[in-house]
Amino acid sequence: MGEHISETLLRQEEIEGIVAGLAARISQDYRDKNLLLIGILKGAYVFLADLARHLTVPCEIEFLRVSSYRGNAESGALEILQDLSMPLERYDVLVVEDILDSGKTLSAMLRHLGAKKPRSLALCAFLDKPSRRTVPVEADYVGRKIPDAFVVGYGLDYAQRYRSLPYIGVLQLD
Ligand code: IMP
Ligand code: MG
Repeated sequence: MGEHISETLLRQEEIEGIVAGLAARISQDYRDKNLLLIGILKGAYVFLADLARHLTVPCEIEFLRVSSYRGNAESGALEILQDLSMPLERYDVLVVEDILDSGKTLSAMLRHLGAKKPRSLALCAFLDKPSRRTVPVEADYVGRKIPDAFVVGYGLDYAQRYRSLPYIGVLQLD
């Protein structure tokens, strides 16, 4: 079974505009804070790199690696493959994620990070598929709401491929 990209959902130039807009809002909101960006690996690596370079406020950067819930809807526990080794009490944490889908990963992630008692905790997702939500979680910053389609590129993968595409495409299985 193969697959192909049937449609471009967001072109590179559109992505740049979206990221610049998000960074402007975040820079405004975090002016007098102690910002720590926590990127969720692997999907968020491209978005985080672009977002961070557009910020006009200082920030620190860390990464968390978790297993994905995709195809495992029953599971209630978050499997952390690489955790943070530092305390978060001094930080205003902004979780940076590629896409908010069912909400399972992120709601578990927010509970996990909340238990570390950061000064504040907020969520930034590049893409959001609100129609897919099964767990109530909303992002404080959303780049673009999209319909229910499987998308790849700009960090997002299908079976570990397509992450390096500079645009967001819709993947069609055939
Ligand atoms: P959630 O827990 O269902 O919200 O799943 C979020 C995770 O599933 C994301 O961080 C992605 O890794 C993955 N995911 C969800 N939708 C897509 C998609 O359309 N393309 C690629 N990965 C996706
Ligand atoms: Mg992810």
